[in-house]
Amino acid sequence: MSRLPFHLLFFMGLAAGPVVVDPATGIVTPDFLASEQLFYEQLAKPHFSSQQMEYIDGASSTVLRNPYSILHSGLDELFVASFTLNHVVRLRWMTGKRAQYKVFASGKELDGPVGMALHRGALFIASFTNDLVLRVNATSGELLGRIGSDETLDCPEGIAIGPDGVLYVASFLLPHLSMFDPESGAYLGKFGASAGTSVAFASTKTPGPSLRGAEDLTFDLLGDVHVTAYYSNAIFKFNGTNGQIVSSYGKGFVNGPVGITCDRASGHIFVSSYKDHKVLRFSPLGQFIGVAAGAPMEQQRKLGDPNAPIRNPSGLAFAEDGTLWVASYPTGAITRFNNSAATGRTWRVVD
Ligand SMILES: *[C@@H]1O[C@H](CO)[C@@H](O)[C@H](O)[C@H]1NC(C)=O
Ligand SMILES: *[C@@H]1O[C@H](CO)[C@@H](O)[C@H](O)[C@H]1NC(C)=O
Ligand SMILES: *[C@@H]1O[C@H](CO)[C@@H](O)[C@H](O)[C@H]1NC(C)=O
Repeated sequence: MSRLPFHLLFFMGLAAGPVVVDPATGIVTPDFLASEQLFYEQLAKPHFSSQQMEYIDGASSTVLRNPYSILHSGLDELFVASFTLNHVVRLRWMTGKRAQYKVFASGKELDGPVGMALHRGALFIASFTNDLVLRVNATSGELLGRIGSDETLDCPEGIAIGPDGVLYVASFLLPHLSMFDPESGAYLGKFGASAGTSVAFASTKTPGPSLRGAEDLTFDLLGDVHVTAYYSNAIFKFNGTNGQIVSSYGKGFVNGPVGITCDRASGHIFVSSYKDHKVLRFSPLGQFIGVAAGAPMEQQRKLGDPNAPIRNPSGLAFAEDGTLWVASYPTGAITRFNNSAATGRTWRVVD
């Protein structure tokens, strides 16, 4: 409650629309009018654009289909989780316009791979269907262990290692995150469990905003946690120290939020808006900044356009060189955007 005046001041000063402050919880939800949204849309020309296309040697849609998430490991290597093919592909690119691939992790226990994280030489992969996070050797792909169970996870998707070295897992069917020790796999409890709980206020109980359809999470520069909620059509921000919900934002801007990542250079939060083919940019306080990449309004109307840079974006990741990588779920394209110039390029699989 003591933080309330600060939030009110901030959002009234900077946001385009009114805010909704839940009187019981003090949770702030920035709210925008339809006309203001349109204004923002028109203002917000994509900041990044892509031009050329490049190819992955030998890869076809039978190798790289339905990419859900992207993970960089070093300057010339990235992992892509292929949701429907149940494997993780490692791409290494070479000078020029080529990259090589290797099916890096697969097997019976990898059933619907989604989120990935690297920690101390191990690659963690969320396996959606069987409620597990697999831990594999990041060099060899050898299976090292299994984390979680159907009691602690329920369709795990996004994962991340926090600044505290803890593994955080977002489950699509749980209204909170789950925490694990990444080395031993020990379950450490729920995180962000305040989302959706009823809060006693006067003689009534007021429900807080409910996190539904958690997809992905990222830590901002202050260590707070941002979670995309597909069915809530919003992003939930939790205090990284105590797990309390701070705000929910993005309502009216995101349309089916899936991937989320923090740009370490600007501190801004980038969110893929799956249903309207865009990547949106927010301040860590939830203020909408603009469309980072994706189809402008006119282009969206003729989405058959093969040059549309991204289509139903899922995973997002910044590389060490500051470029933003976006996975397009239905087309299998991995598009790279240069923040500072129109020199983006798209890696595509070809049949
Ligand atoms: C991964 O395997 C390599 C050998 O291929 C080994 O040197 C390394 O210690 C292993 N790392 C982990 C985290 O198991
Ligand atoms: C998070 O909680 C800590 C400790 O309770 C507090 O000091 C900090 O200000 C909170 N951060 C936010 C963003 O609310
Ligand atoms: C991005 O564009 C800037 C400006 O043209 C250029 O200096 C930089 O090398 C580019 N970065 C990459 C990774 O291509």
